[in-house]
Amino acid sequence: MQEKKKKIGIMGGTFDPIHISHLILAETAYEQFSLDKVLFLPAGNPPHKRNRKGGATDLERVEMVRRAIAGNSHFQLCLDEMNAEDYSYTYRTLEQMRAEHPDTEFYFIVGADSLFDFEQWREPERICRAASILVAVRDHVDDERLSQKMKELEEKLGGHFYRLYSTNLDISSKMIRDWIRRKKTVRYYVPEPVLEYISSRHIYGMDRYPEKDAGESGKETNRQMNGRYDLKKMEQKLAKHLDEDRMRHTLGVMYTAAGLAMVHGCSLEKAQVAGLLHDCAKCIPNKKKLKMCLENQIPMTEYEEKNPFILHAKLGAFLARKKYGVEDEEILEAITWHTTGKPDMSLLDKIIYLADYIEPGRDKASRLPYIRKLAFQDLDECMYQVLKDTLEYLSAGGADGIDEMTEEAYGYYREIHKKRNL
Ligand SMILES: [Fe+2]
Ligand SMILES: [Fe+2]
Repeated sequence: MQEKKKKIGIMGGTFDPIHISHLILAETAYEQFSLDKVLFLPAGNPPHKRNRKGGATDLERVEMVRRAIAGNSHFQLCLDEMNAEDYSYTYRTLEQMRAEHPDTEFYFIVGADSLFDFEQWREPERICRAASILVAVRDHVDDERLSQKMKELEEKLGGHFYRLYSTNLDISSKMIRDWIRRKKTVRYYVPEPVLEYISSRHIYGMDRYPEKDAGESGKETNRQMNGRYDLKKMEQKLAKHLDEDRMRHTLGVMYTAAGLAMVHGCSLEKAQVAGLLHDCAKCIPNKKKLKMCLENQIPMTEYEEKNPFILHAKLGAFLARKKYGVEDEEILEAITWHTTGKPDMSLLDKIIYLADYIEPGRDKASRLPYIRKLAFQDLDECMYQVLKDTLEYLSAGGADGIDEMTEEAYGYYREIHKKRNL
């Protein structure tokens, strides 16, 4: 008996940002066409258009999709177009998918509006050969006109076009970006974790996302009644899990982070909370760190498995949420990246990373007086200098290998350094 072919939907888009209309459309396609899953395929940009002004960066667009679809087991992120060196065309991506998965039927989802300029796309016949096209019906597109167009394209291009009946939500990414810029609320138009991320990275000029309502969950919280964090209570709890030296270092990081936040215009409260909790998992024995990561499905890289001490950053973010009631994604991210750094760090990420390096109790690193001064003057240049020193130290045998993320972070800040010094 012939095996049933797999059916995969493909939801392409710039996703700048992803919003509920994308998600509803994908979910409807999944149901109406009995798909096995739907891939979200963020469109790559040609190199000269990467990180367009006013829009989110490629990394941010991907991260927004990741957050939006988390929790839906039949949605999956596909980075095929993101990783491409040059501009990727739909037909090429689809043909490649077909070649790699010959036993799969692909269904490419498009809006009715796109159908009318479908022939202007690059190689439309090849798109049709590689996938069936699901056309989302829109209210403002005349039904008869749409039927005619679908028939015409089927004859001309030899493809299969099907109607996708979905609720008409007149939402566009452009509208969301405009509203954010005009300080209008976009709450519920964009999934909550995406909105928190937009706010934490100040994408589209968003300054601040309102604090979540009080009493949202039964879990232990360290917030006071007015929604602010209770630092004293956090500190008392933390002292039970850190030794004396680590506690002294932690307070040093907290105050240094607060100082940097004052100078660089970051939230003082977030800097203090992230500084206070950044090493909250540090004193957990390494074996237990590994065990906790496995038990809680915290993904580990090969380097981390070999060097579990580094896991205190990821695990710290996990405990900050679980045991200290921190739900602010910006704080959790800063804790996550405080050891390795990463490319394109947020303001708070950089503040915590550098505060950890320069707090008054530190005395081992070279050039500390210079680095300390620089941290208060120029965060990106300081990131470059610190990462450079760190990599030099690590490659001189100061550690067993180097985490890839640190190298990527160094590459990123070296580029900024070079551009400035041209
Ligand atoms: Fe640390
Ligand atoms: Fe630390």
